[in-house]
Amino acid sequence: MSKYLIAGNWKMNTNADETRKLVSELSASASKNQEVEMLVCPPFINIPGASELLKDSFVSLGAQNCYFEEKGAFTGEISIPMLKAFNLEYIIIGHSERRAYFNESDDLIAKKLEAILNHNLKPILCIGETLEERNAGKTFEVLKNQLDIDLSKADLLKISDMVIAYEPVWAIGTGVSATNEQVAEAHKWIREYLENNYKTEAAKIKILYGGSLNHANAKEILAIPNVDGGLIGGASLKSESFLKIYNTAIELS
Ligand code: 13P
Repeated sequence: MSKYLIAGNWKMNTNADETRKLVSELSASASKNQEVEMLVCPPFINIPGASELLKDSFVSLGAQNCYFEEKGAFTGEISIPMLKAFNLEYIIIGHSERRAYFNESDDLIAKKLEAILNHNLKPILCIGETLEERNAGKTFEVLKNQLDIDLSKADLLKISDMVIAYEPVWAIGTGVSATNEQVAEAHKWIREYLENNYKTEAAKIKILYGGSLNHANAKEILAIPNVDGGLIGGASLKSESFLKIYNTAIELS
């Protein structure tokens, strides 16, 4: 198992040409490294193109969402088998943008997580509190509630394939990351939650930090105990900034 996962969530950015350019630049610089894995998650429509270009590279491929049913009358949705056909390994679920703008509930996220594990892919489950919740002292209550429901259907035998991304909502896209103390405290709490529920498997579950992670703060944040990588939005859209974070992880590993 690698030490760090450095993941780019491209969100609704990059057209086909931009995807080709970014993927080519990243795959040219990613090395075979046992300790650091690079992952890119382009928009659905650019996954086939990215998959083709990444075939013999050291960059892993992921999606930003999926539906839990395999096929049928679910207009506009994409199934896990459809994604799996493109050598894709990871699927992000429960991102705060999907929770907030598309009304995704924890019950729906639980079904997606169950289905992804059952298809032998790796879910990246995003959890995190809003600023109001943090200011009201409810951070850990919120995280517990999200984890309790989101993980309620997970196959315990496959749980170590799961990745958790702690993304405080107020730190996403704001340029203001959580402080080192806030990251340390939340990641420690999540690790303890996993240990209480999954015993020895807990150590194998990666916990990523997301929220204004960039080349300037990557060194400090990635060095915090229980931080096993980053889920990066804005700074993953330019190869230069994403590679700086990736290379920082290599230095630290
Ligand atoms: P930013 O890195 O742009 O803050 O986005 C983080 C994020 O939402 C990753 O999923």
